[in-house]
Amino acid sequence: MAKRMITTEFTVEDSSIEGTLRPQLLKDYIGQKKAKENLKVYIEAAKQRGEALDHVLLFGPPGLGKTTLAGIIANEMGVNIKTTAGPAIEKAGDMAAILNNLREGDILFIDEIHRLNRQVEELLYPAMEDFCIDIVIGRGAAAKSIRLDLPHFTLVGATTRAGMLTAPLRDRFGVIHRLEFYTIDELECIINRSAEVLGVTIDPDGAKELARRSRGTPRLANRLLKRMRDFAQIKYDGRITLDVANYALDLMEVDRLGLDNIDRAILHTMIDKFDGGPVGIEAVATTIGEDAGTVEEVYEPYLVQSGLIARTPRGRIVTKEGYLHFGLTRPEKE
Ligand code: ADE
Repeated sequence: MAKRMITTEFTVEDSSIEGTLRPQLLKDYIGQKKAKENLKVYIEAAKQRGEALDHVLLFGPPGLGKTTLAGIIANEMGVNIKTTAGPAIEKAGDMAAILNNLREGDILFIDEIHRLNRQVEELLYPAMEDFCIDIVIGRGAAAKSIRLDLPHFTLVGATTRAGMLTAPLRDRFGVIHRLEFYTIDELECIINRSAEVLGVTIDPDGAKELARRSRGTPRLANRLLKRMRDFAQIKYDGRITLDVANYALDLMEVDRLGLDNIDRAILHTMIDKFDGGPVGIEAVATTIGEDAGTVEEVYEPYLVQSGLIARTPRGRIVTKEGYLHFGLTRPEKE
């Protein structure tokens, strides 16, 4: 993992592979039709008026392209982007320094925005609404509050947990989009585009199989594609065929629906220990030794989307399809 300096004080993780595979413009961004079409209009309109774009909130499961879209928005607007993450900003003073260093029209991208602390978040309210902040200089009797005017910037916030945002923060975003899992066809297009960027040949059958097993997530598809390229290079003739795809995916323990060991542990636990549910997410998470928030944000959405588990008012249940995935029949319950 390369570390990319964002400001003098903050760093965020950035993997170079994702960097090169990320599309730079809306026209190259595959999928997320609704978000893309709307953003195109808002960007065009703001540019025509010579104004900064309204603040944008992107939410949805990890790996679906929130960071990529933030970069695209900056490119399309022709402005700079500063990137940071909620947990990286500890003090209101740090946030004040970041805001004060922005230029007119710049994008400030805050990943995991639901993890900002209270003081930092409260500083954002006037910054987002009125483009100013009040800062206190000095201490004790000599302390003075001064108002600092900020350039008109665009905050792009990303979160996997929109439900954890406070109402005052959420309400200050003019544009809110939920990113959806990608279809197999969309993933296939992304995989073919990525293969071209990486300079590796992938057969249509290989691309289809990888798309089927990437749990609707481009980040995973690109990661698996890179591993396949390694297998193709060392064990085969360099081309990713269906055989290479299957060999690599099986070795990486990605099953035919794209589930990994943790997805399977969740389902097995629900079936074996909780009789298929209903069961609370905390109980499942504790049993497999995972954090409940991670299970809820990272693993559950795809299991629900695939129809393997369902949410009911009394808790989560494994569906008939969930049992069938392991060759089991769901017992009838009274
Ligand atoms: N690479 C990762 N996500 C992508 C997307 N949505 N479109 C094109 N390439 C991508």
